[in-house]
This record gives sequence, structure tokens and C-alpha cells, in this order.
Amino acid sequence: MKTAIYPGSFDPVTYGHLDIISRAAKLFDKVIVLVSFNPAKPNCFFSLEERMEFVRRALSELKNAENVEVDSHDGLLVDYFKRREADVIVKGLRAMSDFEAEFQMALVNKDLHYKAETVFLAADVTGTFLSSSMVKQIAAFGGDVSAFVPHTIINDVKTRLEIKK
Ligand code: PNS
Repeated sequence: MKTAIYPGSFDPVTYGHLDIISRAAKLFDKVIVLVSFNPAKPNCFFSLEERMEFVRRALSELKNAENVEVDSHDGLLVDYFKRREADVIVKGLRAMSDFEAEFQMALVNKDLHYKAETVFLAADVTGTFLSSSMVKQIAAFGGDVSAFVPHTIINDVKTRLEIKK
């Protein structure tokens, strides 16, 4: 039984994230989507509860999400990894610009816990430019994010972001 943890801020979850979740769900017996705290992004736009709820709703768009669970963690990823006796950390790589930071995180996690292996999945070519930050920026200015944001959450995302206009 191989358990993978897919950590991230998911502020909000995008089709890029869903693609990684769907592919990870085929590769591993269990995938835990871990809505996490990124100290470099202390001010998420959406609350932890909203981000978790958005991920849960977005998962209903996948055909193969029976082995996917959603959880949250505020602390070191490796501590959660140890507690859940996980096997792998899954990350999506969009472009070379992601690589340096992701490579550093993978090495740090491995150093903190020798069993914490990171597996990178190449982002689908249509999602290589896609990020939650871009989505927030486009939606906040009234742009169309329907190609990027799961349709099960898009109205809530738009409503919340357009309030900031
Ligand atoms: O979606 P993000 O913001 O790029 O995800 C980054 C995240 C949350 C996975 C990363 O910041 C993280 O692992 N945070 C937990 C704290 C931790 O374990 N830090 C040490 C490893 S770099």
C-alpha cells in the first residue's frame, strides 16, 4: 500500500492541481491532498476551511478520486508524513522556474526525514502557465477564469474575488 501526500496552499485549487491529483490517484493506492501552510505565503486569500472545501468539491469532478482524501496541516510536512506513514510526496512541476524551489524543498524534506522521497509529475502542457496567483489576479479584475478553476467552485471563487475589486 503506497500513500502519497500532495501538499500545497491551494489558494484556490485549479485544474492544474486536479490534473496532478488525478494522475497521482492512478499511481498510488492512496493520495492525501494536504492543504498546508506555506510560510512564504502567510496571507492566503481564502481561509483554510474554504480551501479544503474547494478541494473537496473539485474532487467530485474526477472519475477516479475514491482513493483521495483531503486533510490540512500547519507545521513541518515531514512530521505529517511520518504520522501518516506515507511513502511519497507528490509535486507538480510546471516550468523550469518551479524547479529550483521545488528541488530545494525536496532536498530539505529528505534531509529532515530520510524516508521522505519526492516524486515530480510534469504538469500537463495546458497547465504549465497556470497558478493560483494568476487565477486570483485575473478574477479580481473581472477576467474569465473558467478554463482554470473547477466549475464546481468557480462561482464562489469569483464572488469572493470580485468583492475585492
Ligand atoms: O502551493 P505551495 O504554496 O507552493 O506549497 C508549498 C508547501 C505548502 C508545500 C510548502 O511551503 C510546505 O511544505 N510547507 C510546510 C512547511 C515545511 O515543511 N517546510 C519545510 C520544507 S520546505
